Amino acid sequence: MHPHCSVFIATSVDGFISRRDGALDWLTKPEFLDQRGLGLPYERFIATVDAIVMGRKTFETARDFPEWPYEGRTVVVLSARELALPPRLHGKVVADGGAPAAIAARLAAAGHRHLYIDGGQTIRRFLAAGLIRELTLTRVPVLLGDGIPLFAADGGGSRLEHLQTSAAANGLVQSRYRVLPAA
Ligand SMILES: NC(=O)c1ccc[n+]([C@@H]2O[C@H](COP(=O)([O-])OP(=O)(O)OC[C@H]3O[C@@H](n4cnc5c(N)ncnc54)[C@H](OP(=O)(O)O)[C@@H]3O)[C@@H](O)[C@H]2O)c1
Repeated sequence: MHPHCSVFIATSVDGFISRRDGALDWLTKPEFLDQRGLGLPYERFIATVDAIVMGRKTFETARDFPEWPYEGRTVVVLSARELALPPRLHGKVVADGGAPAAIAARLAAAGHRHLYIDGGQTIRRFLAAGLIRELTLTRVPVLLGDGIPLFAADGGGSRLEHLQTSAAANGLVQSRYRVLPAA
């Protein structure tokens, strides 16, 4: 039995999750902190998460935040190489180079029930493996023109059921989808 795997991610209106160089300046503006009006604010989502599985590139962004945002939660970083961990993260982060199904099964066996899957490539790999049950996409009112896309050629084929779309006064628009089992 696999744990429940969810995606909760912000994109520009043209579908990017960061600028090409990884910058998130367009997302971390103070005006976008207010999530009132959204059907599933981040704080409510993260409170239900047991473990986070993220790609190495997303980890490298989170690692450099002034505070580690996932204190107290199991964090698995996907990478095919050796992970450079700063001392403050020893014991808090584990690296894994396995396939999505094997990682989900291992986390389920360790008692984790709700996994937060993060990072563009990582999300697409978990989607392609049929493991994602829910997608929450929050669109930020900006066009970046270029950047790292959420969806790309390696991520198609999923059927979605729309659950809810909501908006905040600052222009954030959140759509929630259930990922339907493959036909
Ligand atoms: N807008 C938002 O809300 C949001 C949220 C999260 C992230 N981001 C941004 O998105 C960017 C990163 O996204 P991304 O698509 O470039 O990459 P990503 O998924 O974060 O990381 C990709 C890396 O993960 C590793 N990986 C993924 N699946 C693997 C698997 N099954 N087995 C082994 N390794 C695997 C590989 O690492 P190796 O190359 O080491 O093998 C791959 O290069 C960052 O700039 C981050 O800040 C934005």
